[in-house]
Amino acid sequence: MESIKRTKVKDLLQSTAYGTEVTVKGWVRTFRNNQFIAINDGSTINNIQAVVDFNVADETLLKRLTTGAAVSVTGELIESLGKGQKVEVKVKHLEILGDSDETFPMQPKKHSLEFLREKAHLRFRTNTFNAVFKVRHALAYAIHKFFNDKGFVYLHTPIITASDAEGAGEMFRVTALDFNNPPRTETGEVDFKQDFFGKTTNLTVSGQLEAELAAMAFGEVYTFGPTFRAENSNTTRHLAEFWMIEPEVAFNDLTDNMNLAEELLKYVIKHAMDNCADEIEFLKNRLLEEEKTKPMDERSELDLTAKLNFCLENNFERLTYTEAIEILKNSNPNKKKKFKYIINEWGADLQSEHERYLVEKHFKKPVILTDYPKEIKAFYMRQNDDGKTVRAIDILFPGIGEIIGGSQREERLEYLEKRMAEMHIPADELYWYLDTRRFGTAPHAGFGLGFERLVLFVTGMTNIRDVIPFPRAPKTAEF
Ligand code: 4AD
Ligand code: MG
Repeated sequence: MESIKRTKVKDLLQSTAYGTEVTVKGWVRTFRNNQFIAINDGSTINNIQAVVDFNVADETLLKRLTTGAAVSVTGELIESLGKGQKVEVKVKHLEILGDSDETFPMQPKKHSLEFLREKAHLRFRTNTFNAVFKVRHALAYAIHKFFNDKGFVYLHTPIITASDAEGAGEMFRVTALDFNNPPRTETGEVDFKQDFFGKTTNLTVSGQLEAELAAMAFGEVYTFGPTFRAENSNTTRHLAEFWMIEPEVAFNDLTDNMNLAEELLKYVIKHAMDNCADEIEFLKNRLLEEEKTKPMDERSELDLTAKLNFCLENNFERLTYTEAIEILKNSNPNKKKKFKYIINEWGADLQSEHERYLVEKHFKKPVILTDYPKEIKAFYMRQNDDGKTVRAIDILFPGIGEIIGGSQREERLEYLEKRMAEMHIPADELYWYLDTRRFGTAPHAGFGLGFERLVLFVTGMTNIRDVIPFPRAPKTAEF
């Protein structure tokens, strides 16, 4: 059988070449009145209508035009008389490439996102997920373009690591030992010296420490890869496997770091808006529908496009942790004990309810908090002269909370070693990290952008499991 060259639906819908013969290959979304096939090939969320009549297809063939079936149709491109479409295909030849039946779960009716999550292997064939993953793609491309155009080097940092970058200790162990009969040391512990790598290894929580090594040579690098956290956070903002973008720049201070982060976020959001207009329009309407099910006071004031534009047009509000604590202490929800975690004193870790209060209620725009207490931040952040705070940044977004976390790094060897000792981080295991401070150390800064949180924001979806193709979360590793 000769394969005919197909034209993508996206191109056909923009074509005015009436009278030419075209071939469309795709999947049937609906088949109405024994005549109108809505075909989607994934190139756009929009379908093309193909019109068949009994002369070209017998009844047994028409019966096979069920939702989900793969088809190839060839026919004349004609101007459409129907509403909502300019063109359609008058079918001369129809072929069923792959049958589907009534057990196909993606039938043309409203499905809940929970239902679709259970069918994540098929949910790509819905408009919502077509739009979400198109936007995800556009954002990934824009991130690479942003950094490439600035001369950054894309660095692939390891996924299997022997270090715990954040000192957080919530990692997935990687081992090739036999669990039922692991080798033991004389004192009875599992002997990881006999494991594959000759030591304990884990899935990485961050590529930052390795990125810092490369930044001390290339000047500007970024990573963009999967990271893993074994924290048992069953929330709409956490995944056990998520993608992170981590730029690291030599000679940058905290202000440079904030400027880079703000510029990156605005650039990629604009790219998505410019290149995924149909998808974002669709997602905006989806969100409006979802919001209708919520009580009035929980609905957002801005729709999705307005929210994205607002983010592009306004400077992010920059303030210190100390200033934020004052605002929170005096806030209504704090005084009326509406917060789950009441802010009593300086030093408290901010919970997502506090972050969202600052962004959504107080400033009503994205916020960059800086200079956090050193006790609640990682060992590698540069210490301020007050002896209490470190040069950290967190960027907080409406509806999301923390989207970026980063810092200027501690480049002074003696400060770094002292802090590591205080935090019981073994300096001997991290000798390679400390070497950057021994040989030509320089001020530098970087941050981590959670990719799925960015996709959440731009798509207006509300659960992080709906913006990654196959989510990994506690008790969830299907597909
Ligand atoms: O704030 P985090 O933990 O920072 C780091 O890992 C640093 N090493 C980054 C750096 O300075 N190079 O994580 C960075 C971002 C968060 O702001 C959040 O957007 C995202 O990663 N993130 C998660 N996203 C989904 N699920 C999780 N469990 C996440 N944990 C963090
Ligand atoms: Mg953080």
